[in-house]
Amino acid sequence: MSAANLLSIRHVGKHFGGLHVLQDVSFEVPAGSIYGLIGPNGAGKTTVFNLITGLLTPSAGSIDFQGASLIGQQAHQITHRGIARTFQNIRIFKEMDLLENVMVGMHEHLNYGPLALLLNSGACRAAEKRARERALELLSWVGLDHKADMLADNLSYGDQRKLEFARALATEPKLLLLDEPVAGMNPSEKTILMEEINNIRNRGYGVFMIEHDMRFVMGLCDRIAVLNFGRIIAEGTPDEVRNNPEVIEAYLGKEDAA
Ligand SMILES: Nc1ncnc2c1ncn2[C@@H]1O[C@H](COP(=O)(O)OP(=O)(O)O)[C@@H](O)[C@H]1O
Ligand SMILES: [Mg+2]
Repeated sequence: MSAANLLSIRHVGKHFGGLHVLQDVSFEVPAGSIYGLIGPNGAGKTTVFNLITGLLTPSAGSIDFQGASLIGQQAHQITHRGIARTFQNIRIFKEMDLLENVMVGMHEHLNYGPLALLLNSGACRAAEKRARERALELLSWVGLDHKADMLADNLSYGDQRKLEFARALATEPKLLLLDEPVAGMNPSEKTILMEEINNIRNRGYGVFMIEHDMRFVMGLCDRIAVLNFGRIIAEGTPDEVRNNPEVIEAYLGKEDAA
């Protein structure tokens, strides 16, 4: 693989019994870029994320992150290697406040075991303090620092998405996977999120997103892959993808008509 590629997906297949959900899927996510995966409902997009994050194992092919295979690794090992994700259906801890939600994402990086916590040692307290400061900083990146001690349950839908973001970033990922980040957001929330995703890239993270909102995807991504019935039918810059006749036929045409 080329050193510039963060993630390499080669000839990946996935079937559930006789249902072939992905077939011969190959593409590369370059470092320091925003990469998009689009396609109609049921095309297999979320399955791609589940394969990358270790929730599912591919039936065929290879998935490499920074030159080393991800296949066979547990989800927490993959997080530790530097991949974080948000979910199509938001998963936050509604009974915790925002700061606590973000700190949950960080615990892997706190190197203090149960005994140190029990003794409440000085080093442990200092680590806890640093974690709180970092969590507040992440909340301020997404514009939620003033709500740090609010219960997550009381947030608007758009704010819950931002909180998921902040928590994903708390693991200090090299690659952030976003599954339909603007679903259910209003236009002004979308604009804010667009800026935030740009900021994330500018801070050196790679971003790989699944998104249905064409304006959002086309405006933000450096490159886009198009999945249709489990196969990649096009890959390229937003302009290349937008003008590809097969894509227009399979997806964009229908979207415009809808
Ligand atoms: N764990 C699973 N078991 C069986 N079928 C699945 C599973 N996960 C996804 N599928 C099927 O795979 C297909 C693609 O699903 P998905 O990846 O969620 O599509 P998308 O995210 O593009 O809408 C669907 O037909 C779905 O029902
Ligand atoms: Mg999906």
